[in-house]
Amino acid sequence: MAIKMNRQSQETNGAAAAKIAPGPRDRSWAGFYRAYTRDPLVYLTQLQKEYGDVVTLRAYNYRVFFLSHPDHIEEVLVTQSRKFFKGRILKANKRLFGNGLLTSEGDFWLRQRRLAQPAFHRARVASYGETMVRFADQLIAGWRDGETRDVHTEMMRLTLQIVAKTLFDADVDHEAKEIGKALEAIMELNSNFRRVVLTPPWLPTRHNLRAMLATRRLNRIIYRIIAERRASERDAGDLLSMLLAAQDEDGSRMNDQQLRDEAITIFLAGHETTAIALSWTWWLLAQNPEVEARLHTELDTVLAGRSPQMEDLPRLPYAEKVITESLRLYPPAWGMPRLAIEDVEIGGYKIAKGCGVSVSQWVVHRDRRWFDEPLAFRPERWDGELQKRLPRFAYFPFGGGPRQCIGNAFAQMEATLVLATIAQKFRFRLVADHPVIPLASITLRPKHGIRATLEARNITPRQAGGESKVEATMADSAAD
Ligand code: HEM
Repeated sequence: MAIKMNRQSQETNGAAAAKIAPGPRDRSWAGFYRAYTRDPLVYLTQLQKEYGDVVTLRAYNYRVFFLSHPDHIEEVLVTQSRKFFKGRILKANKRLFGNGLLTSEGDFWLRQRRLAQPAFHRARVASYGETMVRFADQLIAGWRDGETRDVHTEMMRLTLQIVAKTLFDADVDHEAKEIGKALEAIMELNSNFRRVVLTPPWLPTRHNLRAMLATRRLNRIIYRIIAERRASERDAGDLLSMLLAAQDEDGSRMNDQQLRDEAITIFLAGHETTAIALSWTWWLLAQNPEVEARLHTELDTVLAGRSPQMEDLPRLPYAEKVITESLRLYPPAWGMPRLAIEDVEIGGYKIAKGCGVSVSQWVVHRDRRWFDEPLAFRPERWDGELQKRLPRFAYFPFGGGPRQCIGNAFAQMEATLVLATIAQKFRFRLVADHPVIPLASITLRPKHGIRATLEARNITPRQAGGESKVEATMADSAAD
């Protein structure tokens, strides 16, 4: 894709710019649309390489700024966050999310965030650790050595069960499955950029009708769960109980519609992203045997074959770094759009009201100014003081500022516990001819899944610092 330079004057929706941002000259919407939809990851990376940290592009009367410097991203997400709303694509998913935390704005969002926050308090989240490990154990109990499975499907199934249990106390498998199927259908339809941007939701197309039916199905299930819970007045210890009990300063609580919107938002935001994070982690581990071996050493030393518990997490620093590094290279939320609701100045550039702003974790996390050998999977890079040395927004898989992911602690705990549970018992050998391609839809998922053969591990408990039987066995088989 050829991107031509244009450093000449460009008016920004009628407002005079302090500095003129560079960007491609091709002003046609079709040109941008073609390049972007073909592969947004490649396109955004190329834009930054060719034009730098602030790039602008105009398609007809819509101007968008791509910002790739951590300091500028901090301006958008933290310092001047009040001047931005969420972007168009996320808003297009409003029929699914309703006015939930992910899509709402202003005072309404703030009230809902305050109400929901206690449900994500560290102590509350910690109480879900046992559930996470139990479901991971149940999943692998059905796995057999030598089988080939789609790792991504398995992780989706697992995180769906975990969020269904922790959110709704629903561990009836068919209920979780029913919700999952309806959600998948809607996400599938909504994740297509072309459909979202070009087809108004009210148009009775085949896709819109299917999305509407799936949304109705989903609503029926969620409203039933809410009604049953209200009637029983039971504190199930789940997130729904917390949301039901949450009270504003004036004593008001969420109505059914608000509960539905928040529940679906949490369900969706909490299930797919974590499954994706785990899927990419397994894929990276399978290609980096030395990292995998170091992870096994840590797990075998600390856990010696037993299932992990919350209390083990501080003693599993390498497992945590594996997740941190995986979220750097394959951030499930790969880009975040915003809309300027008033004129803003960032880095000397004027961004006029009505302009779009886009920041991308994919681009920034792979920038060699912040990370040596940025494409290498090296959990060790997080050993030292890297986190402290980095500009705050050189690494931001969970966003930042007031709209930072509310499930941040939940997700990191879940990913590390699931990794520790499964990696003790199994490793994955990638199926050679299966293409693994990152698809940047709303999230960054593996387009055709990740097919792998399961290899059961034989763990022999070892002393801290001692040589493991597993390693010895591995070395033997390597010598063979
Ligand atoms: C690895 C897993 C996850 C990643 C990478 C992730 C990433 C993100 C990001 C980047 C945002 C900010 C979006 C923006 O500002 O435009 C966000 C928001 C959000 N996330 Fe997550 N998330 C993950 C897991 C979870 C989990 C487990 C939950 C719930 C159980 C959750 C619930 C939410 C909600 C409700 C919001 C909206 C918060 C608000 O605007 O107030 N996420 N997430």
